Amino acid sequence: MSRAPVLGSAVDTAGPAFAANDAANRALALELRERIDTAALGGPEKTRIRHVERGKLLPRDRVDLLLDPGSPFLEIAPLAAYGLYGADGHDAPGAGMIAGIGRVAGRPMVVVANDATVKGGSYYPMTVKKHLRAQEVALHNRLPCVYLADSGGAFLPMQDDVFPDREHFGRIFYNQATMSRMGIPQIAAVLGSCTAGGAYVPAMQGTIFLGGPPLVKAATGEVVTAEELGGGDLHSRVSGVTDHLADDDADALARVRTIADTLGPLDPPAWETREPRPPALDPEELYGVVPSDTRTPYDVREVIGRIVDGSEFAEFKAEYGTTLVTGFAHINGHPVGIIANNGILFAESALKGAHFIELCDRRSIPLVFLQNISGFMVGRDYEAGGIAKHGAKMVTAVACARVPKFTVVIGGSFGAGNYSMCGRAYSPRFLWMWPNARISVMGGEQAASVLSTVRRDQKEARGEEWSAEDEEAFKAPIRDQYEEQGSPYYSTARLWDDGVIDPVGTRDVLAMALSAARHAPLDPVGYGVFRM
Ligand code: COA
Repeated sequence: MSRAPVLGSAVDTAGPAFAANDAANRALALELRERIDTAALGGPEKTRIRHVERGKLLPRDRVDLLLDPGSPFLEIAPLAAYGLYGADGHDAPGAGMIAGIGRVAGRPMVVVANDATVKGGSYYPMTVKKHLRAQEVALHNRLPCVYLADSGGAFLPMQDDVFPDREHFGRIFYNQATMSRMGIPQIAAVLGSCTAGGAYVPAMQGTIFLGGPPLVKAATGEVVTAEELGGGDLHSRVSGVTDHLADDDADALARVRTIADTLGPLDPPAWETREPRPPALDPEELYGVVPSDTRTPYDVREVIGRIVDGSEFAEFKAEYGTTLVTGFAHINGHPVGIIANNGILFAESALKGAHFIELCDRRSIPLVFLQNISGFMVGRDYEAGGIAKHGAKMVTAVACARVPKFTVVIGGSFGAGNYSMCGRAYSPRFLWMWPNARISVMGGEQAASVLSTVRRDQKEARGEEWSAEDEEAFKAPIRDQYEEQGSPYYSTARLWDDGVIDPVGTRDVLAMALSAARHAPLDPVGYGVFRM
């Protein structure tokens, strides 16, 4: 087998810049780890103790017991709702739900587990969004879905943000029906009280009822116990809502594994894999290689070489459109086409990107976008050179490519750069952020300057004065707003991404995602009109 050239490194790993980056990026990675560990605990300690005293397993223990021993778990949005709810912003760790991809009975499946220790497992707006995202992951990757249900339904104080709209609670059940129509298997284990919306998933065990005792009392005045209204016995022996009656959590999860084992074979793989090999360059060095300030330029090949198998990279059009690096590589044995920013996007880089995407698409090679982009070049000469139509070609190629796309925001993600490098709106199979990443329509300084220019023009047209101090007072809050909203934690709280990841884990995360995507059939190649 012939191999691609091996990337070397020009970084001085003993130099002061490396040491400074290393310290800053390790601190960011540590902060990320601490935040994820705290969220992973779930609800308050006394609620967790009460949960366990009721003979129930905590949701992470349920997921562990469900998955094959030693299975990796690609968690989706572990920091969803971070900072969003309650007086301190932390009322709903992980949005009260665990979601991810793990192996059950030897095949990858999406797992969605309510966390009843977080406000009774009720659905905040971000819980709904996370559940819908998990279903989308199952749909796009044709993965079976397991629901471990234990939920009080809609979070009633925020009903206007969870109940009626297309992106709200009802969509979960709509998706279940349409996923079923598409032949995507879904298995639900009811492991606790599931009220109202929480009860619409088919049931195995526990207490399932469409209105809980408080709701029934409010509606009809009838006083019933939970067991009379929707106990496991009632639903397994009388109503027939459930298919199996399990003794306890462990029994229910064992039954789910047995059922998973009866599902048909996987679809044939969409691409062949090779023997995986670690990168020749050390991934740990990513901490020192990547500047802690996203505005500092560096050669993105230093990142590529620390992610891909054997650090081997067959670069495409290396001499042309050099601010975009494109080329073929393997990640844990999977073939990938890598598209990585190495500066601002020019017409040539956009054309090269569009060309490379078409090539990969034809060859059924998945695409990996390494996004670090302040946007497209602006100015009269560039407009005259048609940068808008060349940018549009790249955006068209990104949108229409039928191969799975994976995006990692490794630095800045600004303006149309976000779009042409497969931002969330372009439906990459997954999108992750590094802890040093920044995301907004433009930088805070630029936004403050655009808005103050508009304001100054208005004032001057009215013949009014605007002092430098007043202008600065106008700009400061805009900068602050962009600083806060550009944070990867702001993004991940709102599910603009699938999680903030440690740079050193990027290769493993991509490998898990590629393997989860591999058995979904590919559509035929097809593009919209490229603006010439
Ligand atoms: N909306 C908002 N908060 C809810 C909630 C809901 N649907 N369901 C439960 N909670 C909150 C409770 O207020 C409580 O909050 P606190 O810890 O701040 O006091 C916490 O979740 C735990 O509830 P609790 O009743 O103590 O837990 P439990 O395990 O004994 O019972 C339920 C869980 C879900 C069975 C029970 O809370 C219940 O029946 N809730 C009402 C569900 C309902 O009617 N939903 C209708 C949705 S359309």
